[in-house]
Amino acid sequence: MADLSISFAGIKSPNPFWLASAPPTNSGDQIMRAFDHGWGGAVWKTLGDPIVDTSSRFGSLDVGGQRMVGFNNIELITDRPLEVNLREMKFVKNKYPKHAVIASLMVEKREDWRDIIKAVIDHGADGLELNFGCPHGMCERGMGSAVGQEPDVLKVVAGWAVEYSTVPVLIKLTPNIGDILEPGVAAVEAGAHGLSLINTIKSIIGVDLDRMVPYPVVGKYSTNGGYCGPAVKPIALHMVGQLARDPRVNIPISGIGGIATWRDAAEFIALGCTSVQVCAAVMHYGFRIVEDMIEGLSNFLDEKGMASVNDLRGKAVPAYTEWGDLDLNYKVAARVDTQKCIGCELCYVACRDSSVFCIHTAADPLPHGHVAPTRDAAIAATQDRGVHVTWVDETECTGCNLCSAVCPVPGCITMVDVTGDKPFESWNDRIEKGTNVTPGGIDEWRAKQGATR
Ligand SMILES: Cc1cc2nc3c(=O)[nH]c(=O)nc-3n(C[C@H](O)[C@H](O)[C@H](O)COP(=O)(O)O)c2cc1C
Repeated sequence: MADLSISFAGIKSPNPFWLASAPPTNSGDQIMRAFDHGWGGAVWKTLGDPIVDTSSRFGSLDVGGQRMVGFNNIELITDRPLEVNLREMKFVKNKYPKHAVIASLMVEKREDWRDIIKAVIDHGADGLELNFGCPHGMCERGMGSAVGQEPDVLKVVAGWAVEYSTVPVLIKLTPNIGDILEPGVAAVEAGAHGLSLINTIKSIIGVDLDRMVPYPVVGKYSTNGGYCGPAVKPIALHMVGQLARDPRVNIPISGIGGIATWRDAAEFIALGCTSVQVCAAVMHYGFRIVEDMIEGLSNFLDEKGMASVNDLRGKAVPAYTEWGDLDLNYKVAARVDTQKCIGCELCYVACRDSSVFCIHTAADPLPHGHVAPTRDAAIAATQDRGVHVTWVDETECTGCNLCSAVCPVPGCITMVDVTGDKPFESWNDRIEKGTNVTPGGIDEWRAKQGATR
C-alpha cells in the first residue's frame, strides 16, 4: 500500500489531507473529531483579536439539483478568546502528537505578531499560516487581503513572522490579485517556508429579489464576501500551477479551493502541492469525507505503481505550458458510440449552434470525400432503436470537445487522436520561422526583433 505520509517544510502529517482554517477548525473538539476520522492535519480557525460576526453570513449557489456548487461567506476570524483557543490547541497537540496542527494568524502590528507567534508556538503549533487572504471585514482594518494584495507589504509582514517564528511559516495567498506570482515570489523572498492557496474569491453570490438585497442578507443590507467550493477549483488549480512551475518558488505548496474528493486532491498534488486543505466540502458533508479521500488516493497510487504520495507530486507540472508552445498539428475528432447514444441530440444542437456543424443524424448525407467512421452504424442504430443516433463528419470536426462536454452519457462521445504523422509545430515555432505572421501586427514586430516568446 502506498505511503501517504508527508513532510511539509518539516511539518509531519500522516497524510496530505488537512482541514483549512474555517468553521470546521473552530475548536479543539472539532479538530480532534476530525483527526479521529482520518484528517492528517488542521489549520486552526484564524486567531487574532476576537471579532463579532453578522447574522446571517453564508450564501450558497445551487446549479440544477446540485447544492452548494459555490459557497460564499462574510464571516471573519475567530470569535473565541485567544486563551481558550490556546488551551485547546495544547490539549489537541498533546493528544495527537503525530498530526499537523497549524495556527492561522492575523494581527496588525509587529509586536502583536511577535506575541501571538510566541503564544501559539508555546502551545504546540507545528507551523503558522499567515492569513493574508480574507477578502472582507478584516481588509478594511488593514489585515487579510489588504496585506496579500500588496506584495511589498506582504514581504514586510511575512518577514516579521519569519523572524519571530521557530516553526515553519506558511503564507496563505489571496486569489484577488492579477498575477499570483507577485505575492508568491514576495513570500519566498521574505523567507517563508511554504505557501497555501487559495483563500476565498471576492464575490456577491446572488440577490434576494423580494427584499432587493444581495445575499447573505444582514437586516436591510449585505456586502461582498468570499467565494469557495467546487466552483473555484479551476481558479485554484491555475494559481497553484503558476507557482509550482516557476523556478523562483522553491518552497512547498498547500493547495486549497473546491477540493471534495480524492481525485480533486490528486489533481492538486499532480500540479505541485505537498498537502491539500478542505473547507466547503466538509461544511457540506462532514469530516467523514476524508475516509473516501484516503482510500481513493491510496488505491490510485497503487494502480499507478507509485510507492508514495511524493511520487505523484508535480507530475503534471511539466505539461503545463504557454498557449504558444502547444502543438497546432495535434488533432482530435469526436466519435459517437452508436450503442451508447440515446438520441437526445444535445451534441447535434451544440455543434450546429455553437461550433462547426459537423455532427449529423441518420438523414444527413456525407459530402463526397469526407470521413465518418460511425455513420453506417449510426444509421443502423437509428433504424433499430428508433432514436436519432448521431455521427461525426471527421473531416469537418475541429476537435473542440463541446459535444463530449454536453453529452449526458458517460463514454458515449470520445475524442480520438487523428493527428497522423504530422510533426509537432507550435505557434511560437511558426513565428520563429516567419510563417503565420500578420503584416503590421505584433508578431511581425516580434519576428523582426527576434523576440519570439
Ligand atoms: C465560512 C468560512 C470561513 C472561513 N474562515 C477562514 C479563516 O478564518 N481563515 C482563513 O484563512 N480562511 C478562511 N476561510 C477560507 C478557507 O480556509 C478556504 O481557503 C476557502 O474556503 C477555499 O477552500 P474550499 O473551496 O475548500 O472551501 C473561510 C471559508 C469559509 C467558507
